[in-house]
Amino acid sequence: MRKGILIWPAIMLVFAGMRAQHPVCGFDWEDISTEESVERFERQLDTFLSQSNLTNRSPITIPVVVHVVWHRPEENLSDVGILSQIEALNRDFNAENADLSTVPDEFQGLIGNIGIRFCLAAIDPYGNPTNGIIRKQCFTPGMGLMEALFFSSGGGSDAWNISQYLNIWVADTGDWISGFGSYPGQTPPEKTGIVVHPKYFGLNGHPKFGLGRVATHEIGHFLGLKHIWGDSPDCSSDDEVADTPLQGSAYNGCPDYPQNGCSESEMFMNYMDYVEDPCMVLFTEGQKQRMLATLFHPPSRIGNSPVLCLHNDQISLSTWKAAPNPSKGQVFLTFEPPLMKLARYSVYNCTGQLIRQEEKLVNRELFIDLSEFPNGIYFLRIDNHCQKIIISH
Ligand code: ARG
Ligand code: ZN
Ligand code: CA
Repeated sequence: MRKGILIWPAIMLVFAGMRAQHPVCGFDWEDISTEESVERFERQLDTFLSQSNLTNRSPITIPVVVHVVWHRPEENLSDVGILSQIEALNRDFNAENADLSTVPDEFQGLIGNIGIRFCLAAIDPYGNPTNGIIRKQCFTPGMGLMEALFFSSGGGSDAWNISQYLNIWVADTGDWISGFGSYPGQTPPEKTGIVVHPKYFGLNGHPKFGLGRVATHEIGHFLGLKHIWGDSPDCSSDDEVADTPLQGSAYNGCPDYPQNGCSESEMFMNYMDYVEDPCMVLFTEGQKQRMLATLFHPPSRIGNSPVLCLHNDQISLSTWKAAPNPSKGQVFLTFEPPLMKLARYSVYNCTGQLIRQEEKLVNRELFIDLSEFPNGIYFLRIDNHCQKIIISH
């Protein structure tokens, strides 16, 4: 027998009481119970898993919209902070995390490279250009646990079409909940996605939840994964993934290896357990199959999204200064905050002609040598920032 899943902890209670205030139009959602729709998803998923050749899909990219619904100024995260979350997801969902080497030998062969990339959406649902980030100031604290979070009319931010975008809300979920994610079939479309507390979003410096893995875990739920211990404290309930060992209940903190309870050695270092960020390091091949099946399956279908991506180097992340200026042509650019990505710089002469363009991996500093060009005024552009450079030999 399957036990109820507890992915939206106290949240369901909050929603149950508020539901009537927001009539839902245009979906048959209200006609069936959550339990029924979750079960329907799982039945279909089983069929889909047994039929499809899921590993041969071409690279999958999921466009993301981040709804920053902030109250205190520090909750209004910077573009750099948001981008660091996208990069953390790409690290974890492509087995690019350096700490993967800490997976114990007995589990090494089970590591799943999910092969999904995430990007900030470049086009909004109306076809307009966007950077995939929406910012809304709200006037109540604790918005992350309120139904209003999902509705612009309530002071929150409306979901974008869930078959094309992964909706991530960044909002204050209080002191006890780091975030939550909707399991397929559990939420109506307008509340489907994940919610993460701003203090745990991105590479945020927090000693326990600083690596962006609250979002990794919640996207696991969003893509059909259950907690690795099967959400009930016994050895018979499992997560319906064959290659994750049975486990009685959640592990917290950062346990020593090995740990046993139900199985000789339990996989507490899985992203779907409750350990701290530095101690969760893998998804398995079985979890991968379940996530891929969910991607191409109702109610998600997001695996086929046609939405364009913003490339990480297109976002204006930093401002920069050129020095010395004037110079003999050798100029140092300093970026604050430091960039993390490829930056394309372009140099134009005073007639507007492009005389140099180059892509460089930039962090804090970039050296440019323009000494081959004659004395004069030049314009140096990176992203949308342009500055005048004077060369005087
Ligand atoms: N609150 C989350 C959930 O149950 C778990 C947090 C994941 N833990 C972590 N170290 N990132 O959905
Ligand atoms: Zn969870
Ligand atoms: Ca299992």
